[in-house]
Amino acid sequence: MLYSFLSAAALLAPALAVVQPLNTTILGQYGHSPAVYPSPNATGAGGWEEALAKAKEFTAQLTAAEKADMVTGKPGPCVGNIVAIPRLGFGGLCLQDGPLAIRTVDYASVFPAGVTTAASFDRKLMYERGAAMGAEFRGKGAQVALSPVAGPLGRSAYAGRNWEGFSPDPYLTGVAMEETITGLQSNGLQACAKHWIGNEQETQRNPTYKNGSIVQESISANIDDRTMHELYMWPFANAVRAGVASVMCSYQRLNGSYACENSKALNGYLKEELGFQGYVMSDWGATHSGVPSIEAGLDMNMPGGLGLYGLTFGEASDFGGNVTIAVNNGTLDASRVDDMVIRIMTPYFFLGQDKDYPTVDPSSADLNTFSPKDTWFREYVLNGTRSRDVRADHGALIRKHGAESTVLLKNVDNALPLKSPKIISVFGNDASEDTQGFYNQVDFEYGTLVAGGGSGTGRLTYLITPLEAIKARASKDGALVQQWLNNTLVATSDISTLAIPETPSVCLVFLKTWAEEAADRVSLELDWDGNDVVESVASYCNNTIVVTHSSGINDLPWADHENVTAILAAHYPGQESGNSIVDILYGDVNPSGKLPYTIALSNDDYNGLPTTAVNSTDPDAWQAWFEEKLEIDYRFFDAQNMSVRYEFGFGLSYSTFELSDLAMSSCASANVSATPAPQSATTPGGNPALWENLYNITVTLKNTGDVAGATVPQLYLSYPDSAPAGTPPKQLRGFEKVMLESGESESVSFELMRRDFSYWDVSSQEWVIPAGEFGVSVGFSSRDLKVVGSVSVV
Ligand SMILES: *[C@@H]1O[C@H](CO)[C@@H](O)[C@H](O)[C@H]1NC(C)=O
Ligand SMILES: *[C@@H]1O[C@H](CO)[C@@H](O)[C@H](O)[C@H]1NC(C)=O
Ligand SMILES: *[C@@H]1O[C@H](CO)[C@@H](O)[C@H](O)[C@H]1NC(C)=O
Ligand SMILES: *[C@@H]1O[C@H](CO)[C@@H](O)[C@H](O)[C@H]1NC(C)=O
Ligand SMILES: *[C@@H]1O[C@H](CO)[C@@H](O)[C@H](O)[C@H]1NC(C)=O
Ligand SMILES: *[C@@H]1O[C@H](CO)[C@@H](O)[C@H](O)[C@H]1NC(C)=O
Ligand SMILES: *[C@@H]1O[C@H](CO)[C@@H](O)[C@H](O)[C@H]1NC(C)=O
Ligand SMILES: *[C@@H]1O[C@H](CO)[C@@H](O)[C@H](O)[C@H]1NC(C)=O
Ligand SMILES: *[C@@H]1O[C@H](CO)[C@@H](O)[C@H](O)[C@H]1NC(C)=O
Ligand SMILES: *[C@@H]1O[C@H](CO)[C@@H](O)[C@H](O)[C@H]1NC(C)=O
Ligand SMILES: *[C@@H]1O[C@H](CO)[C@@H](O)[C@H](O)[C@H]1NC(C)=O
Ligand SMILES: *[C@@H]1O[C@H](CO)[C@@H](O)[C@H](O)[C@H]1NC(C)=O
Repeated sequence: MLYSFLSAAALLAPALAVVQPLNTTILGQYGHSPAVYPSPNATGAGGWEEALAKAKEFTAQLTAAEKADMVTGKPGPCVGNIVAIPRLGFGGLCLQDGPLAIRTVDYASVFPAGVTTAASFDRKLMYERGAAMGAEFRGKGAQVALSPVAGPLGRSAYAGRNWEGFSPDPYLTGVAMEETITGLQSNGLQACAKHWIGNEQETQRNPTYKNGSIVQESISANIDDRTMHELYMWPFANAVRAGVASVMCSYQRLNGSYACENSKALNGYLKEELGFQGYVMSDWGATHSGVPSIEAGLDMNMPGGLGLYGLTFGEASDFGGNVTIAVNNGTLDASRVDDMVIRIMTPYFFLGQDKDYPTVDPSSADLNTFSPKDTWFREYVLNGTRSRDVRADHGALIRKHGAESTVLLKNVDNALPLKSPKIISVFGNDASEDTQGFYNQVDFEYGTLVAGGGSGTGRLTYLITPLEAIKARASKDGALVQQWLNNTLVATSDISTLAIPETPSVCLVFLKTWAEEAADRVSLELDWDGNDVVESVASYCNNTIVVTHSSGINDLPWADHENVTAILAAHYPGQESGNSIVDILYGDVNPSGKLPYTIALSNDDYNGLPTTAVNSTDPDAWQAWFEEKLEIDYRFFDAQNMSVRYEFGFGLSYSTFELSDLAMSSCASANVSATPAPQSATTPGGNPALWENLYNITVTLKNTGDVAGATVPQLYLSYPDSAPAGTPPKQLRGFEKVMLESGESESVSFELMRRDFSYWDVSSQEWVIPAGEFGVSVGFSSRDLKVVGSVSVV
């Protein structure tokens, strides 16, 4: 969704040198989206039957005007608001951002970002983070958390919001979605899986308006059916199966039709195929019609008004009064409106939100610049306690999660962990205090980065910087700590002239990379001359250790420099950033993070670039052809047999590990058929047969090093040759983070379900297991496969 005010970057599309003119041949293939009507009614399948009955009973008591209110947002204290209906004891719904924190409140925590969390490759951590974050949303009186993110998935290294989501690998993101949603909703809170679907770039995500009307449509993500299933829908299937209450449709078009009025995407893929039982809400201002959107499957219009971002505050709406008018004039079936309300109220009852739910914290109304009080035209009772502190002991958890998500990319001559260094030189504008406040919405020069910008950011209540944590730790060794925080100075100076000690034990360089909603990145380089800072320091200091706080993929041209002895990618770690990194630097936590994407040798190696610099004024000129199909991130580098700098899944430890004894046992009671048995009824997550375990695969993991530590055995499947062309050489289908003492061994098992062995067959519209031998490999990264075997499934 949108954040409270648009930055200049949001309005000026960055100009990458990628121009994709209209190609009518491809337009013929993707030029339209199939019609899928009518919109399916909710059935309450998957355990929501009782809640569905309550929702129906509630809906039956509503007037037409109340039903219209239920499906239409209004300005109010939260970023999204559904007004109360006091006569039925319904207190309304408060919808709040975002994926790493509850944003528009005070006294809340800032957690590690999605990309950071993905790098943990740790299911338990993902759940714990979701549960703790969810407690804060609930404590502040939000019924709905606009979190988590699986779109963007990460087709493009440059996409501005990749850090809000998890990883370009759909399996990893699927697990992260499931664990985060289960954690969030364990608080009786509703989660919202966003953005459905194909939201893979920010540039032209919204149409161009002139004088209030659209002169150029938004970018159209043109995605073939197989790619849609095997990449972009995949993690949303996990979300729906996990019982996610709501799904947010995205800004851009899909095959030429707006995502929030695309019947194939909403009625077809989401409600029929994935059996989604909750409600679809629009991204803020992503609704472009009334009746057509409703019939295509949109259930709630947010924030509810007309115009770009729904910012024409007033009762006028494509929904609202128009819903009633459309029912009365016979255009819209009243039962569809009932289903919209029933879908909204079913998770509300299922999660027990009708009982003792906390009130909205009045602080939220003051911090909500999106719909300030003078725009409210309905009444909100804000009589709860103001400025409730919901942080509990989450700081300790965030510190631990930040450390456990840090990825060690290089470590020569045991540079790390530090061994009580006596002279520590710290470099870089990312090391120290933020100089422009604690609400990161601009790419400020001085200050460490713990989150990106836009609706997915958080409002810090305190921040432990790297420099302050290093000083605190170093004082125990009586060490000398000096810092040079001006990147321009460091990058352009001969370091020896900066009064640096002649023999620093270690030079720690802190660098950052900003990214924000509404703008794609224009570069993969570290910000603020980061590369020159490293070169400058490393030319003087033969023990240079680089730490990055970044939104994601960075070019690391100095990675092989002889004096760069260690590299740590810490991404956006949240409020305990300094403590988390010091725990890693000094070895109190043994690094176990793994790269959730690929770092290429050269920026030119990446594919799937955002579509930018479209010069045509043709209203339909903005088209993104997902022609790389399944070949994103490591699937692409593997298919093209390209060398990379650091591959997907890579990350070092202070210990060493060994894998052995690959064993496989079938879990199927009878012969496995190539296609799943047809389902008898719609089920959340799609055909339940897809989720049945077919094989258990086990390996033995041993910690062969001197210190305790965790690592992540990863299982990759290679499909047999009978799979259709375009099948990636290997795909992640299992991972498990395991903690072992020095010398300890453990058996690790991966459960592989039918979906893991299947491809989406476009002609039969079914998941199919190809005949022949699957290659099964388990290793420590996508290119460090230690034990291999094979198995025929059908
Ligand atoms: C349009 O796309 C088709 C199919 O990918 C390709 O063969 C053709 O060369 C493209 N035409 C232009 C003008 O780029
Ligand atoms: C987009 O077009 C492709 C190719 O015709 C089709 O397979 C797919 O189902 C379409 N998807 C949507 C959402 O319209
Ligand atoms: C939804 O349920 C209503 C009322 O039971 C029924 O009239 C309507 O036809 C159903 N719609 C669909 C698409 O099944
Ligand atoms: C914008 O719309 C107004 C009112 O409809 C009209 O008077 C004005 O000329 C328009 N401006 C432009 C630049 O088209
Ligand atoms: C109905 O929608 C139209 C725009 O399509 C808008 O001008 C009008 O104000 C809306 N009416 C209501 C009652 O919201
Ligand atoms: C019925 O009402 C809807 C919503 O205002 C409007 O879009 C539609 O044009 C109307 N249809 C008729 C036949 O009046
Ligand atoms: C707050 O307002 C609600 C709704 O009017 C009312 O039910 C509740 O008793 C009020 N609470 C307090 C503490 O005044
Ligand atoms: C940073 O260093 C550059 C180059 O020496 C200098 O021009 C600039 O004023 C310095 N910035 C600050 C904030 O001191
Ligand atoms: C690194 O530099 C220090 C002091 O400049 C020197 O004592 C040490 O031998 C050097 N180490 C290596 C590996 O060159
Ligand atoms: C590495 O550091 C040493 C100082 O210890 C310096 O003499 C040497 O030139 C540096 N190497 C490079 C490639 O800059
Ligand atoms: C689009 O405009 C840019 C900047 O004016 C120019 O460099 C580029 O060549 C143009 N591209 C096309 C396809 O006309
Ligand atoms: C597969 O593994 C699961 C979990 O470890 C276990 O419960 C199940 O019994 C195993 N099944 C077979 C057939 O080995």
